[in-house]
Amino acid sequence: MTYLETAAQFYSDVAETPQIGLCCVQSSPLQLPGLKIPEQMQEMNYGCGTTVHAAELVGNPVVLYVGVGGGLEALQFAYFSRQKGAVIAVDPVPAMREAAARNLQVAAQENDWFDASFVEIREGDAFALPVPDASVDVVAQNCLFNIFEPADLAKALKETYRVLKPGGRLLMSDPIATRPIPQHLKEDQRLRALCLSGALTYAEYVQHLVDVGFGQVEVRARRPYRLLDKYNYQLDADLLLESLDSVSFKVPVPDDGACIFTGKTAIYTGKEELFDDGAGHVLQRGVPAAVCDKTAGKLGGLMPDKVLITDSTWHYNGGGCC
Ligand SMILES: C[S@@+](CC[C@H](N)C(=O)[O-])C[C@H]1O[C@@H](n2cnc3c(N)ncnc32)[C@H](O)[C@@H]1O
Repeated sequence: MTYLETAAQFYSDVAETPQIGLCCVQSSPLQLPGLKIPEQMQEMNYGCGTTVHAAELVGNPVVLYVGVGGGLEALQFAYFSRQKGAVIAVDPVPAMREAAARNLQVAAQENDWFDASFVEIREGDAFALPVPDASVDVVAQNCLFNIFEPADLAKALKETYRVLKPGGRLLMSDPIATRPIPQHLKEDQRLRALCLSGALTYAEYVQHLVDVGFGQVEVRARRPYRLLDKYNYQLDADLLLESLDSVSFKVPVPDDGACIFTGKTAIYTGKEELFDDGAGHVLQRGVPAAVCDKTAGKLGGLMPDKVLITDSTWHYNGGGCC
């Protein structure tokens, strides 16, 4: 079996018999006023963070959700759009599509505002998304792309780029590794399917996004996810996995490189009221301005005695330079 077939088989099994806590973090799923998440759907929370960011969902976007799982995030996206077919959810695993459809029917019974027709479940695959070029505003995937080997990840990201409208957003949550995962674990198909051994490092993950053409990437959260301990995973030292929530924009990559926002700020510490770097960044004395990592590097290098660059918070929510 290929690793993709192993993954499909695994998700077929956990569609039929939910495995509580499979990929998820210990915090409860995103709660929203008036949203009731059916019990079985909650048990099938196979995501490792959240891809549902209210600020990205204004203006009734069409959302394409890749890897539907139990339907939890499709329901959360539908909460914002509340229109027939505004959320298209894709999965190649028949048992998973059936489980999601069942859970969404229960959600419709438990939530006055929700109708199962708000989510259209389609057979499809991350490598051949069943929608035309430049046809959706948002693509989301949670805890799926980390399973893919690097060449397949590039293929899946290219597909998301193809289907997004210009300016559209790719919302993702995936495990990343704090150092490269050794080969013997990468080759373990079951661990890969379990989202435990396919993770790339942060730098590799972001580079994949930039390589397919996403000109702006924003980190929304970065938190501990799982520990691969040296005893059970035949490692020299423990290896921490983190989960990364991000939003990537289909905008051109600027000539001087992509804008990656990780929560850094620049603060002018000099005597004048304002500091103008002559490249579009005006800092007010003493007031933090959100900057991308590229601008942080330039400003910090330009005047290290007059511009203080604060560390990445790994939580950036809009505004600032670029
Ligand atoms: C780890 S689960 C995540 C489910 C869901 N996103 C969530 O947050 O609960 C991975 C999902 O991707 C689906 N999947 C597996 N291989 C896929 C592929 N090649 N393309 C699209 N989805 C796939 C699985 O059936 C499963 O629903």
